[in-house]
Amino acid sequence: MREVAIVGVGLTKFGELWSQSLRDIFAEAALAAMADAKIDKIDSLYVGAMSGGLYNYQEHLASLMADYIGQQGVPAARVESACSSGSQAVRMGYYEIASGASDIVLVGGVEKMWDADDGTFVLGTAADQEYEAYNGVTFPGLYAMMANAYMHRYGLTREQLAAVPIKNHKHSVHNPYAQYPFEIDLKGVLNSAPVADPLRLMDCSPITDGAAAIILAPLEIAHKFTNNPIKIKGVGAATGPIALHDHKDLTRLDAVRLSAERAYKAAGVTPNDIQFAEVHDCFSIAEIIVAEELGFFEYGTAGKAIAEGQATYGGKLVINPSGGLKAKGHPVGATGVAQLIEATLQLQGRAGKRQVENAKLGLTQNMGGSGGSSVVHILEAING
Ligand code: COA
Repeated sequence: MREVAIVGVGLTKFGELWSQSLRDIFAEAALAAMADAKIDKIDSLYVGAMSGGLYNYQEHLASLMADYIGQQGVPAARVESACSSGSQAVRMGYYEIASGASDIVLVGGVEKMWDADDGTFVLGTAADQEYEAYNGVTFPGLYAMMANAYMHRYGLTREQLAAVPIKNHKHSVHNPYAQYPFEIDLKGVLNSAPVADPLRLMDCSPITDGAAAIILAPLEIAHKFTNNPIKIKGVGAATGPIALHDHKDLTRLDAVRLSAERAYKAAGVTPNDIQFAEVHDCFSIAEIIVAEELGFFEYGTAGKAIAEGQATYGGKLVINPSGGLKAKGHPVGATGVAQLIEATLQLQGRAGKRQVENAKLGLTQNMGGSGGSSVVHILEAING
């Protein structure tokens, strides 16, 4: 297998992008990534998207996007895995390069969620239709059950739970692509509108339009495209039960643990080597459980550690320097790709005021549903 590098990145602003269409935002990110890698031709395309059909009445996305970015003729495929569609698409591109089948692969993720007639219904299609969605539970409801179980078992306080969005909003202030780049305090979280007890508005990732794209190439020729390629050192993916009631333990996310174990093994590193991570904080409780499954903190301790500043600058590692899904935004199909872009910018020293000092090794973790799928990538700076 060949080693694989990221040689170009491109991102749109995240938010409510009413004046652009689905294809416009994909093209904006894809063409920016191609310009970053100084290329005008690709060998192959993957598009991560959860539901072009339900959000925008548009399927056949891979072919549409290949055409719209001027790459007619290339093989192209759309990859769907709910909120982890983007990182699953990256994984496909990774193996296409690693296998020797292609040299230049563009992987883009896109979602235009504000166009939907009923966005909550669309997101609910990623839960178990027969047992969950049909009975009226939504993702805020499912994660609220996890939060209640976790608080009951480990004594996590409401204030500690609030430390996650407070931290991520603080990070987002320095991210020009973020949807909600403002700081919030404890009062702001505790007084925000109740959504599903104990979760409030400020515990939830928002509805977001956005697109993200990266260019992958074999590491051995990566310097043709950039003087600062970033190596994908390890990839791991796993599935878990799609229905929350099938989880053996409501406070655990088995797919996250399995995907992390596989990525650490592939990369030959341990959780203690990771300096920063972009993780799937779709709801405050998710970041806490994910941080434990990734091995950054012992079970039952991540909430306290985050509240004590262990997951921000100057702590054990920086979690979600971009602002995370909570503050940067969560255009579901684009999220996984955008996480790799943040990791790339950090490892290239291009992250501006949110730069993690001396960043050499970072991790991304992207999840589908309430733990039905998870993908972990470990990225390494190879220059300097
Ligand atoms: N964080 C911060 N501000 C938010 C926000 C969020 N998550 N969501 C909305 N807002 C702001 C809006 O900008 C708006 O501000 P304004 O009044 O100044 O214009 C205000 O809060 C109300 O927004 P609105 O869109 O009416 O909120 P809503 O009640 O319809 O939706 C949620 C809020 C939390 C229910 C919705 O964002 C949601 O469903 N999030 C979860 C998405 C999800 O499940 N993703 C998949 C994860 S697995």
